[in-house]
Amino acid sequence: MVAKTIDISTSLGNITLDNPVIPASGTFGFGEEFKDLYDLNILGSISFKGTTCEPRLGNPLPRIAETPMGMINSVGLQNPGVEKVIAEELPRLFETYRKPVIANISGFSIDEYVHLAESFEKVDQVGILEVNISCPNVHNGGMAYGVCPESAAEVTRAVKNASSKPVYIKLSPNVTDIAEIAMACEEAGADGLSLINTIMGMRIDVNRRKPVIANKIGGFSGPAIFPVALRMVYQVYEACKIPIIGIGGISSARDVIEMMMAGASAVQVGAYNLVNPWACKEIIEELPVLCDELGIADIKSIIGVAH
Ligand SMILES: Cc1cc2nc3c(=O)[nH]c(=O)nc-3n(C[C@H](O)[C@H](O)[C@H](O)COP(=O)(O)O)c2cc1C
Repeated sequence: MVAKTIDISTSLGNITLDNPVIPASGTFGFGEEFKDLYDLNILGSISFKGTTCEPRLGNPLPRIAETPMGMINSVGLQNPGVEKVIAEELPRLFETYRKPVIANISGFSIDEYVHLAESFEKVDQVGILEVNISCPNVHNGGMAYGVCPESAAEVTRAVKNASSKPVYIKLSPNVTDIAEIAMACEEAGADGLSLINTIMGMRIDVNRRKPVIANKIGGFSGPAIFPVALRMVYQVYEACKIPIIGIGGISSARDVIEMMMAGASAVQVGAYNLVNPWACKEIIEELPVLCDELGIADIKSIIGVAH
């Protein structure tokens, strides 16, 4: 039995979440495939599929490769484009889901990031803009902005000027010093940081003697990358004061606790939703039980305690 007094709510700036668990962008679509499995309103929030200005079909197939304890994807930001997302996908999601959501946006130029930020300005239920400057699966734009402090700061400033919503910059792990990029975003006005996106990886099909995925290189994620993500959240927490959403390899309530102890105020679960579509629900149910076991009465109290 769990003591009733355990509080697993947390906050991202002014936004209070009932719990820290959020499905990660690209692994939960717009909720449609999950809403018959469980009540989406148990989730802390939802980061919906990376949205671009124009519709995108994504990269050629195959674009998924399995790895031990993880996967490589090269989906390439497949989505119906911002107009359709706002006119069709979000109204459908909001029929079921009643909490603030996180709009994950991806541009191929500064102007595109600005256009996306302006477009979501009128959607009241978007509580946070998550600016993806770290997609490894598209050429031009995407990760190009996230691997140098100056361009990361430039995108941050432009989106901040275009939006009144809290702006979280989603960082790439494919850099030498993630703290340096994080500090540049904070200085440029970011309200928070989401980290990490996928790590560049590849597999070779030894029968065909060719890379498994058509794009050759993709983004590696899943439980295998958890220690890398945790290390980066730990480093960024030391360097910055703004809230962190910890992402990368989370598959259990214990991972959530570890990530929060490293400095995350909330977390996102990505690839594990594809392994177990009930993952977020199970983690949310397990959290108070584990907190009780570990003597944690208020989950907020553990943010950054490992430092
Ligand atoms: C199939 C797939 C699609 C993804 N699409 C996006 C996306 O559109 N935008 C984005 O910011 N991140 C995207 N990601 C990255 C995840 O949101 C997350 O940052 C990353 O996978 C690490 O978390 P994980 O190890 O729990 O999967 C995608 C990941 C996967 C596996």
